[in-house]
Amino acid sequence: MNRIMLLAVLLIFVTDVNADYEPSFEIGKQKAKVCMTCHGEDGISTLDPYPNLRGQKVGYLISSLKDYKSRQRTSGLAILMQQQADALSEQDIKDIAYYFSVLGTKKEGE
Ligand code: HEC
Repeated sequence: MNRIMLLAVLLIFVTDVNADYEPSFEIGKQKAKVCMTCHGEDGISTLDPYPNLRGQKVGYLISSLKDYKSRQRTSGLAILMQQQADALSEQDIKDIAYYFSVLGTKKEGE
């Protein structure tokens, strides 16, 4: 095998590992405990200013959290969420977003 082929094989391998990453429902659930105080145990909040997260689109959850973190979202009660988002890593955001997006859907518990 020449060097170029070896490199190509390695690249495919590396790309595959990333593509195979599935955020875990259980890991997301653990990380989401802190969110439940305001957004509800089941992702349905009990107070009017706190939005429901249950079954929300995963992409929307991720972009919202990134917007709070980068201070793109500042209106209303966003200040509460900015502090929350600051504590999250990129991976935390993916896991938690996955958890809430799947919560209450057929995929839950798979
Ligand atoms: C102290 C209460 C509180 C906690 C704890 C909290 N949030 Fe929030 N969250 C809010 C409020 C209030 C808003 C609405 C803010 C606004 O006006 O933009 C919000 C908004 C959001 C939104 C945007 C929803 C939408 O429909 O636009 C997301 C996503 C979100 N929170 C996720 C989380 C996650 C994930 C956690 C846990 C890491 C968390 N929140 C913890 C109070 C809280």
